[in-house]
Amino acid sequence: VKKEYRIPDANCFHVGDELDFYFASSYGKDPNTKLSAVVELEESINELSLWYEAFPEMKLAISNHGLRWLKKASEAGIPERLLKTYQEIIQAPKGWYWKEEWIVEAKQPFRVIHGMGYSGKDGHRNAAIDGAISTIIGHLHSFAAVDHIKKNIWAMNVGCLIDEASFAFAYGKYMRNKPVLGCGVVLNNGRTPLFIPFE
Ligand SMILES: [Fe+2]
Repeated sequence: VKKEYRIPDANCFHVGDELDFYFASSYGKDPNTKLSAVVELEESINELSLWYEAFPEMKLAISNHGLRWLKKASEAGIPERLLKTYQEIIQAPKGWYWKEEWIVEAKQPFRVIHGMGYSGKDGHRNAAIDGAISTIIGHLHSFAAVDHIKKNIWAMNVGCLIDEASFAFAYGKYMRNKPVLGCGVVLNNGRTPLFIPFE
């Protein structure tokens, strides 16, 4: 998609949940697995290194899965200054930056956030209405859509790139709503949001 639409490196955004961090979650762990927190981290870095190569610059939204270890440390009473930075832990390149919200100053401005606090098929719509600005979210992986809400305000949920067969997503086996795979592109200086389904 990046090549097809000739997206410059500096215009690449990631809606977050770039990793699962299964072993940092507060949910019960599968007793049948031979995986561990260390193996997960190693495999995560291996996978991410392909992304680092394809996207030397990335602007990412801070997300709930990304915060999982930090939350665990905080619950254990460990202050942030005693921890390694997230970038260091996942060996992110210099061009990768995380923020709660990225505002894109296009002719028609829009923002990229993760979407924490929103739910359901209207999550992206509600985020755009609350922010009073066109908004892109991820987080709600069972939905993907573009909605035009009123003049100059649109909302897009870009879906996700979850591998349904993966160990991390085993919990979704009996869910009615399956992950919707894809990504988003915004054309015409912020006026035209497109959802691109994964092929
Ligand atoms: Fe999320």
